[in-house]
Amino acid sequence: MELGKNKIVRLLSDEANQEELLHLADDVRRTHVGDEVHLRGLIEFSNICRNNCLYCGIRNGNHEVKRYRMAPEELIGMAKKAADIGFKTIVMQSGEDMYYSKNVMCEIIKEVKKLDVAITLSIGERDYEEYQAFKEAGADRYLMRIETTDKDLYHRLDPKMSWQHRYDCLMMIKGLGYELGSGIMVGLPGQSIESIAEDLLFLKEIGVDMAGIGPFIPHPQTPLANETGGTLNLALRTMAVMRLLLPDINIPATTAMESLHPEGRIMALQGGANVVMPNMTEGEYRKLYELYPGKVAVNDSPACCRSEIARKIISIGRTIGTGCGQSKSFAAK
Ligand code: 5AD
Repeated sequence: MELGKNKIVRLLSDEANQEELLHLADDVRRTHVGDEVHLRGLIEFSNICRNNCLYCGIRNGNHEVKRYRMAPEELIGMAKKAADIGFKTIVMQSGEDMYYSKNVMCEIIKEVKKLDVAITLSIGERDYEEYQAFKEAGADRYLMRIETTDKDLYHRLDPKMSWQHRYDCLMMIKGLGYELGSGIMVGLPGQSIESIAEDLLFLKEIGVDMAGIGPFIPHPQTPLANETGGTLNLALRTMAVMRLLLPDINIPATTAMESLHPEGRIMALQGGANVVMPNMTEGEYRKLYELYPGKVAVNDSPACCRSEIARKIISIGRTIGTGCGQSKSFAAK
């Protein structure tokens, strides 16, 4: 759908007509990508991070978190369990932990690829050679949010990081033929509605295949502890407009939405989303990977997480995707 910035700002600001907007996004989702909901098994394999983003619970400067790093065999073992439970995509996510060098990561990817699954990496900013090696080893998709396109805001949120470098990384990933996932947080301190509208236009411009949109939730052990977070409703409207702008992409119902409301992900699935990423991280690790507070199901087992969400998906008249759920936008390229 052709929507300009002014129109997007109006849609994002219009709380009164939110229901109508979400219905429209739901219709567009049905027409373009159908009723299947694709499930991805998410494994959070290290909470060690070299970065210090002000909003993030696992920022380097948070000395209250107990840090962990899975051994490659442990991560591969968890991926195997996720594949056994039925996942056709495994998402491996971590802080920017350089223990996982190019070679270590490639060994992991090659082993996980033997499980006959699609592999998504979400491990942050790396060199071109690394992205290339990961792709050759068998990674299919890469997920890295731009977080915000307001460069001043981005740099305020982490003075040591470079927006331009993150953008360059996204371009490298795209150029290497990965299915590209990006996204933003909404409700960041100092973020305007106009800026969110620009974010959406940016995601369209760079041609993402997947866009994750979540509310910012202040974490008590960060410098932004006392800020006001984003609302579920604004996050839902942003996601719905994303669906109107990019009808063929994959849009996850994000975990952060569920943190703000017990049915947050179901509301998202009825407002334009078509992907859910149940947490497959096992044991104590799950609660140690706390990017924001209120993360759901920190005590549940992986199998329970999957069956619980699958049951809900079916109860709203949708089906569970049977393939690996490649985005339609990517398939068309
Ligand atoms: N609130 C919401 N989302 C957060 N993320 C990190 N910290 C927070 C927070 N406090 C998101 C970022 C990151 C993704 C993995 O988690 O968008 O890219």
